[in-house]
Amino acid sequence: MAKDFVESTHQENHTCQIALMPAGRKGKVPRGSNLLKVAEELGVELESICGGRQTCGKCQVVVEEGHFPKHGIASSADHLTPPTAREIEYSQEHRLQGRRLACAAEVLGDVLISVPEESQARKQVIAKAASERTIEIDPAVRQVYVEVRPPDLSDPSGDWERLQEALEAQWDLKGLSMDSGVLATLQSDLREGNFAVTVNIWQEREVLRVLPGYHEGLYGLAVDIGSTTIVAHLCDLRTGAVLATQAAMNPQVRYGEDLMSRVSYANSEPQGLSRLHRGIIRTLNELAEKATQDAGLIPEDILDAVIVGNPVMHHLFLGIHPRELGSAPFAPAVSAALDLKARDLGLNFHPASRLHTLPLIAGHVGADNVAVLIAEAPDEQDEVTLIVDVGTNAEIVLGNRQRLLAASSPTGPAFEGAQITHGQRAAPGAIERVRIDPQTLEPRIKVIGYDAWIIPGADLPHEARATGICGSGIIEAVAELFLAGIIQPDGLFDASVAERSPRVRYQGRTGEYVLADESLTATGLPVVVTQNDIRAIQLAKAALYAGTKLLMNHWGAERVDQVLLAGAFGSFISPFHAMVLGLIPDCKLEKVMAVGNAAGDGARFALLNRTLRLKAAGLARWVEHVSTPLESSFQDEFVAALGLPHARDPFPTLQAFLPKPSASAKQGHRNRIREKHQASL
Ligand code: FES
Repeated sequence: MAKDFVESTHQENHTCQIALMPAGRKGKVPRGSNLLKVAEELGVELESICGGRQTCGKCQVVVEEGHFPKHGIASSADHLTPPTAREIEYSQEHRLQGRRLACAAEVLGDVLISVPEESQARKQVIAKAASERTIEIDPAVRQVYVEVRPPDLSDPSGDWERLQEALEAQWDLKGLSMDSGVLATLQSDLREGNFAVTVNIWQEREVLRVLPGYHEGLYGLAVDIGSTTIVAHLCDLRTGAVLATQAAMNPQVRYGEDLMSRVSYANSEPQGLSRLHRGIIRTLNELAEKATQDAGLIPEDILDAVIVGNPVMHHLFLGIHPRELGSAPFAPAVSAALDLKARDLGLNFHPASRLHTLPLIAGHVGADNVAVLIAEAPDEQDEVTLIVDVGTNAEIVLGNRQRLLAASSPTGPAFEGAQITHGQRAAPGAIERVRIDPQTLEPRIKVIGYDAWIIPGADLPHEARATGICGSGIIEAVAELFLAGIIQPDGLFDASVAERSPRVRYQGRTGEYVLADESLTATGLPVVVTQNDIRAIQLAKAALYAGTKLLMNHWGAERVDQVLLAGAFGSFISPFHAMVLGLIPDCKLEKVMAVGNAAGDGARFALLNRTLRLKAAGLARWVEHVSTPLESSFQDEFVAALGLPHARDPFPTLQAFLPKPSASAKQGHRNRIREKHQASL
């Protein structure tokens, strides 16, 4: 019956109704149209590497059977031409299980076609950003399969010219250049593939690689070079999947933990720049080796890479001396995005592999910041968003679709556990969570690698014993000391508390709090938080808050609508304790979110979608840079931000939690003011 209906329809107008799901695209097409082309014309792009030669199997579709009143279609498998011999052969080899190859089918009658996810070109990945978005897969490198005209005595043209001709005729790719390495093996590649080859092309401009016959697989590396940690994500450029992630400590740490000490190392040591540069390259090669090994690949499979980092890391990676970044006016050697060959930097990827660095915003605000913008897209939001990437050098972005401001602030390495008496990196044994009972002043702690909260006197297995305090632990410890009234808003120990608890003790005039006594530690020595540790945290958080405040003042924002904590460290900070400490401004607590390694995510998105590289270039020009070191009000904001949570800014969200100053604390405060006053006379 359906057949009769179709036949009569065709006889009347020679057109067929087609609907493509799930896109919901519909249209009338001439009888006999190729299904792959029809789909493309209706705006549903199907995957194709072989260009419709029934070889790659990427264009698989399902013909739905039955009557679909909503679409006015009576659909049937025999409304497409029967499978060709080549399609049958492909099906036997790869088990198509009732699916058809769109490139092999012609439309004879009305059909409703379902396009499976894996057959859709321009696949999308869900971005794990604070505001969930989808990223379209549209990488800079693509692969196409072509059949090249064999040489002929009557035609003296070269193999390269005939490959160009085939790429133009079969894929509309005109005027391509080639990587210098292509020619060395082109003739053997063509002959080995019987003049059918798979070609990898960068940005529709350059042939990177030619492989004999039909070949699948396209891989890239997204890298975030942090001052402390380098993270590399190996991605499948066709599906967007992260195949492996590897991280390593930045080997430059041994030359100084903060950026300026690395700049001065490059300045003062004759081999300094070369050592810093080679260290990054060596580490990147190791990460690529490990990541590809995890995925069953080799580094030579990497054909594209996107690199982000702060300006000093960016320059050192490229082998550029960072001396100009060390002093005003902080001019970078180049701020635009760069397209380079990975081999020119000594990277052991495929010899023709491309490499893209995202642009810098300014001499202090780098490609990592641009990557955060790409990942979190504050420029697409109405809410005034503060993004803080806490690291040795904190990156700060504030704004929304109307206006975006960016700055960096030298917080130093205290948040990473450095400069803290028992500070350590986040690793098993590190205290990462702290609670202090405001009545008894007794602590509870959690250490990495052991799930339960630990209380004083607990009988612990060795792996639960504390070895030190990591960044999130020291933030919670200082905030809890303040909430329990052990330290005062100026960060100093309240001397009167020592009478209430043996945990508060003095080494000379310097107070300290015993967070874990010897029975709870792996070393047999107590883990303490000293007055100097608290001071180091105050200095770091004040630098961060002052930078944020400068941006808020420039923007004209009294409050922010949401705070996104980026960076590995940001994922582990308790938003409540960060606010108690005054690390971030007042905001509804439920609007403070950790967004993970946003810079790494941004690098990955730019690897998967070349349009985002253009967006990054536009954002880098549009974002207004605020140079914190040059701002006259920075010092004033910095001093005010030393207080807990702040000397003058209100924190209404914390109102119910903050301690009331004790009488002795007030007296102590008055005494210190008097002493200062007398000293100034
Ligand atoms: S496009 Fe390759 S098999 Fe159809």
